[in-house]
Amino acid sequence: MKIYIDSANLKEIEKWLNYGVIDGVTTNPSIMLKDGVYDVEAGIKKIARLIDPLPISVEVTTNDSKEMIEQARRLAALGHNIVVKIPVENEFGVPCYGLIGQLEKSGVTVNATAIMSFGQIILAAKAGASYVSLFAGRVADEGGNSPEVIVESVEWLEHWEYKSQLIVGSIRSVGDILNAATAGAHIITIPPQYLSKMADHKYTRETVKEFIADSKSALKIMGQGKT
Ligand code: E4P
Repeated sequence: MKIYIDSANLKEIEKWLNYGVIDGVTTNPSIMLKDGVYDVEAGIKKIARLIDPLPISVEVTTNDSKEMIEQARRLAALGHNIVVKIPVENEFGVPCYGLIGQLEKSGVTVNATAIMSFGQIILAAKAGASYVSLFAGRVADEGGNSPEVIVESVEWLEHWEYKSQLIVGSIRSVGDILNAATAGAHIITIPPQYLSKMADHKYTRETVKEFIADSKSALKIMGQGKT
């Protein structure tokens, strides 16, 4: 299983990259805005260079099919490790599966995004997407059972040998991460604050404190023995 960081914050990306626990980066226009990356192309280039050869996903920002293709091509040209996120439908309900296939065939790696159901995963995989992004938190917001969707999607993708890798995003807790891992997600994309929560445990800190204190006590006893 791979872990991606769901962030456009260069410092956070670099930190987790140096820990050796992330395999890629995902972003979306809201993450860019929150992390203060207003010049998308410049920001993406910096991240792409930093994590090279790991992949970074960046999303198109239009409802128009022709513009989606143009944006996707421009974004993909920014770096060889750039993956372009195409929503499975636009905000008016126009399906984007045709664009996904067209882009993949022309050499652009596509992450089919804003996926909320197993059905959309099936269609995005059939269209040829390299990645299919399920928004687990948003599925749960609407009363859906995300772990169930993950299990059925991974089983189906693997049974029929589709190339699409399932990315589970929209993480809202460490519990969501563990549920996605148990359900068999190929990749989980995690916001930095949940990576920090996942890394830390109060009892680990207390245990280390206890061991260091005891080793100091042993040194003190040794020192006393010498005199
Ligand atoms: C990642 O690919 C998604 O864009 C992201 O995880 C969505 O998260 P949200 O539902 O918290 O906005």
